Amino acid sequence: MKPDTAGTKPTQADEPRVRIFDTTLRDGEQAPGFALDRKAKLRIAQSLETLGVDVMEAGFPQASEEDFAAVREIARQVRQSTICALARCQRGDIERAAQALEGAQRGRIHLFLSTSPLHREHKLNMSRAQVLDAAVAAVTRARGLCDEVEFSAEDALRTEPQFLAEVFAAVAVAGAGTLNAPDTVGYATPSEVASLFTYLRKCIPDESVVFSAHCHDDLGLAVANTLAAVGAGARQVECTINGIGERAGNAALEEIVMALRVRAPYFGLATRIDTRRLHATSRLLGELTRQPVPRNKAIVGANAFAHESGIHQHGVLRHRGTYEIMRPQDVGADDAPLVLGRHSGRHALRQRLAALGHTPDDAALDGLFERFKALTARRSEIHDEDLAALALGLDPDA
Ligand code: KIV
Ligand code: ZN
Repeated sequence: MKPDTAGTKPTQADEPRVRIFDTTLRDGEQAPGFALDRKAKLRIAQSLETLGVDVMEAGFPQASEEDFAAVREIARQVRQSTICALARCQRGDIERAAQALEGAQRGRIHLFLSTSPLHREHKLNMSRAQVLDAAVAAVTRARGLCDEVEFSAEDALRTEPQFLAEVFAAVAVAGAGTLNAPDTVGYATPSEVASLFTYLRKCIPDESVVFSAHCHDDLGLAVANTLAAVGAGARQVECTINGIGERAGNAALEEIVMALRVRAPYFGLATRIDTRRLHATSRLLGELTRQPVPRNKAIVGANAFAHESGIHQHGVLRHRGTYEIMRPQDVGADDAPLVLGRHSGRHALRQRLAALGHTPDDAALDGLFERFKALTARRSEIHDEDLAALALGLDPDA
């Protein structure tokens, strides 16, 4: 790993691309119920590498020996993504992060310090000038110890914009190539986020600096806020698989990536993510944390491509675009059959029976449909074995 030198900072000038910074292993893993051991972290890291994340935040080395060891192991094994280690603006943290990153192909130290009045007064007991000086000193120290430095102004969305811009301008001069403005408590709205990023970009017009968004989901706005930041010029987004993270979570990687892809004409921005790996990565995380993905989770939930109501099923059978804005295979999900249940109609039943090799005439279908409806009164989901039994005149419950 070489120290950052002029010209090695990532550049966003004229690049129609958004960098994906995954923090599943740091902000995600620190949420209650989502702890992972070192082996599991490495498996997730390898899966994130295959997925194509640009940067993965592997942990907070100063937090514990276990965290240090996990970051060091990931830094040695993962070659295609930049490996990032979190550090407070303190000498011990910075040196520990640099040590953990020693084996990395490309390493980044991610420094954070609160800038909002509430945090300055009640958490840090520091004046504005002290915060500014501490941030610059930390970036200056970290810059000589790794390839890239990112600076996060914790609680940025509740910070005076002028002061935030002053801190960002100073740390950029000191060598921070990425400036992250987190909505730490998930308080902001999309229009506020867009205004702040527009303002920051005007104050710091240096095109070699990458602005980054990091949104929490306390009001369910994390993805919307992240996309608002992108619309206003952010070219790095910080997110987690399945949206796991502190309290209500972080912005979900799969939702941001698919929004950028499905609405490509609107955003005009690509990512390096192989979206066909989204489903597998999401499932792996669910298994390793023993936290199943909710059925109704956007993009990766079991219901994300399921159609049960008769009207929707009829529409999808005629043209998938009627009720689908992306294909299951685009996110690596199975081409889900229509789910047969109490809302399903004759069209879906006929189609499923045909797929199973049964082609009843209209009169036979009427009879089957009646028996199918009677079955749905007893069961919430009807499986292929049940349909095969019905088609053969057998009782699926027998
Ligand atoms: O939410 C937050 O502010 C953070 C920082 C450490 C980036 O996670
Ligand atoms: Zn966070």
